[in-house]
Amino acid sequence: MRHAIIIGTGSYLPDNRLTNDDLAKLVDTSDEWITSRTGIKERRISTGETTSDLAYEAGKRALSSSKLSAEELDLIICATITPDSFMPSVACIVQQRLGAYHAAAFDLTAACTGLIYAMAVATSFIENGMYKNILVIGAETLSKTLDWSDRSTCVLFGDGSGAMILSSSEQKSGIMNVILSSDGGKREHLCLPAIPMANPFVKKDETDFRPTISMNGQEVFKFAVRSITDLVKSVLAKTGLKEDDIKYVVAHQANARIIEHAAKFLGISLDKFFMNLDRYGNTSAATIGIALDEMVQNKLLKSGDRLILVGFGGGMTSGVVLVEWN
Ligand code: COA
Repeated sequence: MRHAIIIGTGSYLPDNRLTNDDLAKLVDTSDEWITSRTGIKERRISTGETTSDLAYEAGKRALSSSKLSAEELDLIICATITPDSFMPSVACIVQQRLGAYHAAAFDLTAACTGLIYAMAVATSFIENGMYKNILVIGAETLSKTLDWSDRSTCVLFGDGSGAMILSSSEQKSGIMNVILSSDGGKREHLCLPAIPMANPFVKKDETDFRPTISMNGQEVFKFAVRSITDLVKSVLAKTGLKEDDIKYVVAHQANARIIEHAAKFLGISLDKFFMNLDRYGNTSAATIGIALDEMVQNKLLKSGDRLILVGFGGGMTSGVVLVEWN
């Protein structure tokens, strides 16, 4: 049986830092409010770099850390809700820029759970023998989708990209278990519209419409805490592991209070939950990849360590991956 192991990670953040004090000059908010409600202190905001620019940089770094050449890649999956265009996909742009001439490429949409879904797809391609080396990227420029006059959403999000290379191995480690979940019935709680319906036969004129993120914060908060709690419990039950067998939990970096509540319900020490959302805010599909790359850069992971990566987001979607580090 082939296993999917992580052989490289990379991340990329735009240079431009926007602090809570900077935001307080744009909307009626304060560092105190944002920090106490979310844990976020600053985020990176693109000054022109596109999602494919961020995806390319993170992908290039992941490739370099894997020691593979671009021509050895069989597939590129980019998880994003903020592509440069509906076509071409971000993944196709990255494929050309990396020179990954043998790779198939497509984008995947599962909002903030996107990287987990992309890892699940990549893992099944590797386990069934179809592909050997897959570049998985989560990349977003959420700043272009924000209503910068809405203080309840614009303080939460940032731009960034995280990537990893999954590769086929005989080793019994790497991606050990995956659970995905969706609840379309709750979809109205977190929305980002696309091009509005318009043609000569549609009466309503929405030509000035600019799509922005809208959210029912409290419903999303409850969904997030429940998703992390239920999925961590489920993946432990499925694998027969105990909390003590897990070195780190890397939850989607949306809000420190969501993570604190989930840690409490699970009875897992908050010290096991890696957090960097204070510096980057919520970068949607990118957060888990950025976190994992930072953990690698900081040499936090060693062979045999078990990690739980768990995400939640619009759709509503959620998912968990159990990794044994190789
Ligand atoms: N600065 C100052 N005040 C703000 C504010 C801001 N940035 N945003 C909202 N407020 C105000 C509201 O207007 C409200 O004022 P009112 O009581 O006078 O009406 C008050 O703060 C409380 O708002 P509320 O929405 O009840 O706050 P909250 O405690 O639920 O926190 C969130 C709001 C968004 C931080 C919280 O609901 C949350 O984190 N939800 C999850 C969001 C998320 O993670 N989304 C992405 C998931 S992938």
